[in-house]
Amino acid sequence: MTTFPIHRCLLLFFTFLHTFSFASPQIGKTCRLRPLGNGRDDTDQVEAAIAKCGHFGETVFEPGSYNITRKMTWDLVSAKVDLNGYLSFVPNIDFWLNANNTYRVIFIQSQASWFVITGSDFEIDAHNSGGIQGNGQPWWSHFQTVPREDGDGRPVSLTIWKAARGVIRNFRIESPPFWSSAVAQSSDILLDGMFINATNEDPLYIGKNVVPNTDGIDTYRSERVTMLNWDVTCGDDCLAFKGNSTDIIARNITCRGGNGIAIGSVGQYANMSDNVLNVAMEDLRMIRLDASVQPNMVNGVYFKSWSGSVNGQPPTGGGGGTGLVSNISARNVQLDRVTAPVHVYQTNGGKSGDAPSTLKFEHLSFTDWSGTAITTKVVDIECSSAAGCNDMKFTNFSIAPPTGQTAQIICHNVTDVSGVTCTA
Ligand SMILES: *[C@@H]1O[C@H](CO)[C@@H](O)[C@H](O)[C@H]1NC(C)=O
Ligand SMILES: *[C@@H]1O[C@H](CO)[C@@H](O)[C@H](O)[C@H]1NC(C)=O
Ligand SMILES: *[C@@H]1O[C@H](CO)[C@@H](O)[C@H](O)[C@H]1NC(C)=O
Ligand SMILES: *[C@@H]1O[C@H](CO)[C@@H](O)[C@H](O)[C@H]1NC(C)=O
Ligand SMILES: *[C@@H]1O[C@H](CO)[C@@H](O)[C@H](O)[C@H]1NC(C)=O
Ligand SMILES: *[C@@H]1O[C@H](CO)[C@@H](O)[C@H](O)[C@H]1NC(C)=O
Ligand SMILES: *[C@@H]1O[C@H](CO)[C@@H](O)[C@H](O)[C@H]1NC(C)=O
Ligand SMILES: *[C@@H]1O[C@H](CO)[C@@H](O)[C@H](O)[C@H]1NC(C)=O
Ligand SMILES: *[C@@H]1O[C@H](CO)[C@@H](O)[C@H](O)[C@H]1NC(C)=O
Repeated sequence: MTTFPIHRCLLLFFTFLHTFSFASPQIGKTCRLRPLGNGRDDTDQVEAAIAKCGHFGETVFEPGSYNITRKMTWDLVSAKVDLNGYLSFVPNIDFWLNANNTYRVIFIQSQASWFVITGSDFEIDAHNSGGIQGNGQPWWSHFQTVPREDGDGRPVSLTIWKAARGVIRNFRIESPPFWSSAVAQSSDILLDGMFINATNEDPLYIGKNVVPNTDGIDTYRSERVTMLNWDVTCGDDCLAFKGNSTDIIARNITCRGGNGIAIGSVGQYANMSDNVLNVAMEDLRMIRLDASVQPNMVNGVYFKSWSGSVNGQPPTGGGGGTGLVSNISARNVQLDRVTAPVHVYQTNGGKSGDAPSTLKFEHLSFTDWSGTAITTKVVDIECSSAAGCNDMKFTNFSIAPPTGQTAQIICHNVTDVSGVTCTA
């Protein structure tokens, strides 16, 4: 690491949406670092640079691969980071699965994190040439013969936690072992230009989805999170907005394979309510991949709550939670051979005879949808009798079922559906 001894007035240029306002950065330093190479460990020099320049300064990573061997937190305050290379997390599975070696800052499902960014008024720009190398393949292959569960310690690649007014730009996450990113207990976060790719390359598993849980992002207990210009290849939720995500924007999002965009799951914790309010999505594309690479392209946008009964305890079990999902819109959506374009269900983790969920879904709108489905259930709204869904507006909604078949529009326990004709 080289530090320029002359402190100079550092003018940080932030470009941000009108909703993002930054405190003025102050006098700063610049730290520069390059990979040590030769199998050496870069974690110390990365931590030292952030400790020195992470408050009111700038840290510049030269291109290359930085070998990260243990958990790491970046506390950034009025700071800029230019990440021209990759933070490459060693694929030492047993090491990371030891709970002492990760953080447990994401409350929901006690998920583990190996890299946490916290603080305020920061921008990390990875210039489309850097980000995180998750070295996921050994993980994916390992968990083909070993059972996996939520909360088992597989680490989230990028965790933004207790952060305010942060920007992550042009950032790549290659081969995430588990969730690619999460935003938790944060506000005013912009993620612009994220590229994520979880693709199996082990010939043993051609044609199987061996990259489950590689969600593009999960948001939880956060306000004003904006996602622009994303390209996600994964085997699970492309985006997932979980409990107490409010005022969310997602625009120009390409999802290649996986489950599509999720609202939920919600209602896993019986002792808490989950609210997901004011989510505006537009310019979404769901693209089915070659089945040898990724067999799933399940949903366009889907909504799921746990049932009204408690079946086991989180992180793996749960249910019985209440709450409200309201004011969610998805506009200009193109689907390429999706299995279930719009799906609402309230029986996640449930079994027959469970009490109906009391979590309500209302004011959902689907505008300007085009493309194809590979099943006839183009709209499948299955709401609980206890809550009942209300106000689902379809406008210019035109999804073709398989050739020669008739689309089904299933509407159970929902009032005020407009723009489509319920067939059941
Ligand atoms: C990373 O550092 C560890 C510890 O020094 C070393 O064992 C490992 O080979 C290094 N990995 C790479 C890719 O350089
Ligand atoms: C984690 O650290 C604690 C305290 O040092 C230790 O007692 C425990 O054995 C460690 N757990 C594992 C699984 O290594
Ligand atoms: C994702 O990675 C796979 C395997 O390396 C590659 O074939 C594919 O083109 C990548 N996807 C994108 C969108 O770049
Ligand atoms: C949408 O995002 C992609 C990156 O995923 C970018 O290449 C493209 O220019 C963006 N489109 C628009 C209209 O901004
Ligand atoms: C709710 O229950 C979970 C365990 O399932 C516990 O960790 C959490 O602290 C509880 N929250 C409240 C608000 O009681
Ligand atoms: C969500 O917010 C509500 C209202 O502020 C609160 O009662 C509830 O505990 C929160 N839920 C979670 C999961 O944090
Ligand atoms: C619904 O969400 C939009 C943003 O997506 C917001 O502008 C609008 O005020 C919200 N409506 C209500 C009633 O909160
Ligand atoms: C209907 O939506 C498609 C995109 O899905 C768009 O091209 C078309 O202009 C829309 N039609 C109207 C009348 O808005
Ligand atoms: C809809 O409500 C009825 C009772 O009114 C219930 O029998 C049925 O299971 C509910 N549908 C769903 C999908 O939960």
